Amino acid sequence: MRDRILVFLSERGTLADPEAVDFLLEQQDPLAMADLLLQSFRDPPLVITLEDILHAGMIARAAAERAPPAPAMETARSPPPRPAPPPPPVAPAAFRGSGTCAADVSEDIKILKDITGRSTCEGTIDDFSRYFRHRFQTLSRLLRSRPELAGALDVYKAKRLTRETRIIGIVKDVRTTKNGHRILELEDETDSVSVLVPSDSGLGADTIVDDEVVGVGGFCNDRGLFIAKSINHPDIPVSKAFPRTAERVRVAFMSDVHVGSRTFLADRWAKFRAWACNGDEVGRSLRYLVLSGDVVDGIGVYPRQDEELVLDDIYVQYEAFAAMLGELPDHLKVILLPGNHDAVRPAEPQPALPSAIQKLFDSNVLFVGNPCTLSLHGVRILAYHGRSLDDFVSSLPGMTYAKPLEAMREMLRKRHLAPMYGGKTPIAPEAEDHLIIDAVPDIFVTGHVHAAAIGEHRGVILANSSTWQSQTSYQKMHNIEPMPARLPVVDLHTGEAILKAF
Ligand SMILES: [Fe+2]
Ligand SMILES: [Fe+2]
Repeated sequence: MRDRILVFLSERGTLADPEAVDFLLEQQDPLAMADLLLQSFRDPPLVITLEDILHAGMIARAAAERAPPAPAMETARSPPPRPAPPPPPVAPAAFRGSGTCAADVSEDIKILKDITGRSTCEGTIDDFSRYFRHRFQTLSRLLRSRPELAGALDVYKAKRLTRETRIIGIVKDVRTTKNGHRILELEDETDSVSVLVPSDSGLGADTIVDDEVVGVGGFCNDRGLFIAKSINHPDIPVSKAFPRTAERVRVAFMSDVHVGSRTFLADRWAKFRAWACNGDEVGRSLRYLVLSGDVVDGIGVYPRQDEELVLDDIYVQYEAFAAMLGELPDHLKVILLPGNHDAVRPAEPQPALPSAIQKLFDSNVLFVGNPCTLSLHGVRILAYHGRSLDDFVSSLPGMTYAKPLEAMREMLRKRHLAPMYGGKTPIAPEAEDHLIIDAVPDIFVTGHVHAAAIGEHRGVILANSSTWQSQTSYQKMHNIEPMPARLPVVDLHTGEAILKAF
């Protein structure tokens, strides 16, 4: 064990004197202890001494005594394939949890996928067929890589065989017969076929929607009907581990602020601002704020909206929001994508807000499109405003606005943010389908439905980022109860997700 500790430390650019190593060896888990010890140094010394270890312990104890009581918050799972180290005997508080002061950590943002500046579509028939071809080819490639669908045949060939085969296609229609069977019209680039999903096949609970790409195992009967015995979605094949960052900083997710509306909750925002500026350990470690759309209420988004506005000029709404962001700490980097209330084309993927609006904001706001995939210190985040949640809720029994994570799990299973074309989500037929979830994110966040939730799907952290608006008359009419002023926060070092209430 002594050698393992020395190797562990030397791989991280430091050494320890014999007394320090003896001390580590006496601990229950010497390597975990060494790891925690290293994290407590901003700049680890060349040789760690016993004095360094004891000093770190004293700092930790002092910090623990100074720390205010923990605020009320809900804690969700973190995807925990990597178990948290046991609490060390010397320095529990600072070692265990605390985030670094975010102001001390350099910014590390990479935009991995964003339509901004890359839109080419004109909405022609050719655009549409190219768009769907790209969707089919990308997702069928993903499905074909799965063992269950190895050797999948073209629909044209499978229709001419009576033995068991596998096919991959895009669902052009799905309907339920009066006997409870489902019929899918499945199409690939060679042909189309009607697929019968028998009600007693055990596939009854499987969620299938129009325009998603699925793999089906089964056989063709003598009437040309393909009888399904199995259905595969692209999904995330194996549960993934969270990529723990070296930096101990956190990211918060917010959306649907709806500045300009009468129902904007200024008092709850003030509480958030106070916490972000002078709050607890979580607040101090907050380095990034991802804003997933509907930051203002907009103008003319729905009939008679003007009756519900206190600011009826779109520029004044954005100016007010820019001023609100300007009151947050300078080191809090804001990443802002649009939603359906924002001043940009409604068809998805939406580009970033126009420069006339961007220039109203400070330079610490980064404007991106919707959806956007970005990396923060190597943690991959998929942020999507979430308009398609409307389509999931209206077309699938059991889906509700109050439980958006169910629909988000379906998006990951289908590897598509808005599979249903022609519903409430306007989609621009770009040359590539930007709504495909090609790379698996570590964190997937949506807004739009004014709910608040955290959870996970196969190791991906899920969050729906609440709202800062109370119930609107539209929501009252439709019996939608919002869950305002909640803030999902994820620790990029541990993957722990919490939902903080204001
Ligand atoms: Fe909204
Ligand atoms: Fe929205």
